[in-house]
Amino acid sequence: MKKIVFATNNRHKLEEIRKITKGTLEILSLSDIGCHEEIEETGSTLDENAIIKATYVHERYGYDCFADDTGLEVEALGGAPGVYSARYAGEACQAEDNMRKLLAEMEHNENRKAQFRTVIALCCNGEQHLFEGVIRGTITRVKRGSDGFGYDPVFMPEGYDRTFAELGDEAKNQISHRSLATGKMVQYLLDRFQTVNPR
Ligand code: IMP
Repeated sequence: MKKIVFATNNRHKLEEIRKITKGTLEILSLSDIGCHEEIEETGSTLDENAIIKATYVHERYGYDCFADDTGLEVEALGGAPGVYSARYAGEACQAEDNMRKLLAEMEHNENRKAQFRTVIALCCNGEQHLFEGVIRGTITRVKRGSDGFGYDPVFMPEGYDRTFAELGDEAKNQISHRSLATGKMVQYLLDRFQTVNPR
């Protein structure tokens, strides 16, 4: 099975992506390859940040690698928090702070439309590729559910009456922004490398 590094320290994302790629790819974490430094996300777009993280690992550690960057893009806020989703309520803030700020900003807003967008940058065999996954939905008025992470309790995907945090991991992974982007990358790797086992 093809080994590939996922340049993240987020254990939720690692678990999610290992479930999505089970039987297809062997996913190594940054600690699996002895990379313990913090990779700064200095880009001003999701694409830039994903590329920065994937190339950092590829160049310094020599592994085929991919990295993702995700943003929650809220229509009524002009696409904010977007690339700044992790730091929406300030540096070193928690998911709870970000959701509190988002719900406060949206309190008097009837337009609840939002989307999660993930960009994956893949550095493999000296080439670089980008894959995108988008899921549309709405921002709820209060937090609902306890599964997942980040903004999951306030995001309700289109066609569902439950938030990501109420749907649970399995249902979320069927439809999520990250699984759409990951699916595209896995398909690319399957087409490219005969050695990868089919799902
Ligand atoms: P990053 O991709 O780790 O930079 O994520 C940016 C921000 O979006 C962080 O606050 C994450 O918690 C949040 N985020 C990323 N993916 C998800 C998701 O699948 N559900 C909810 N929040 C997410």
